Amino acid sequence: MINDPRLIELPKVLDQRGNLSFLQEGHQIPFEIERVYWIYDVPGGEVRGGHSYHTNLEIIIALSGSFDVVLDNGLKKETYSLNRSYYGLYVPSGTWRHMENFSTNSLGFIVASTKYNENDYERDYELFLKSKING
Ligand code: TYD
Repeated sequence: MINDPRLIELPKVLDQRGNLSFLQEGHQIPFEIERVYWIYDVPGGEVRGGHSYHTNLEIIIALSGSFDVVLDNGLKKETYSLNRSYYGLYVPSGTWRHMENFSTNSLGFIVASTKYNENDYERDYELFLKSKING
């Protein structure tokens, strides 16, 4: 597992008929894929996320349009503006994250390392910070 967030540039197959990008388990991304989900029809000004995961790892891609992903490791916050379908943002577990500034008709596509499990969520920011202090 990689502990730091990072932007991963995905392959681009440029073609006059239209471009193509892809990701494959074990190649472009550092985990096995268990789930994908997507976020769409986000009304202007809305915020998604606002939690961390205990174990789940993710790659977040702005397949269409743009939005910002704000990552917080308990010490510092960093904002990643996603607006290209060939960049994936790797988000390690134990990272508080939310998404904001969704453009009209944007489409967020998320590739995850675990199946959906509510018990894997930390939704309380104070508890998140405490877990960072206590290790
Ligand atoms: P959640 O991850 O809490 O979204 P956000 O953090 O943006 O508010 O997901 C919202 C709800 O959607 C959650 O309560 C349950 C459901 N859900 C699933 O059933 N499966 C999934 O893979 C995800 C991501 C969410």
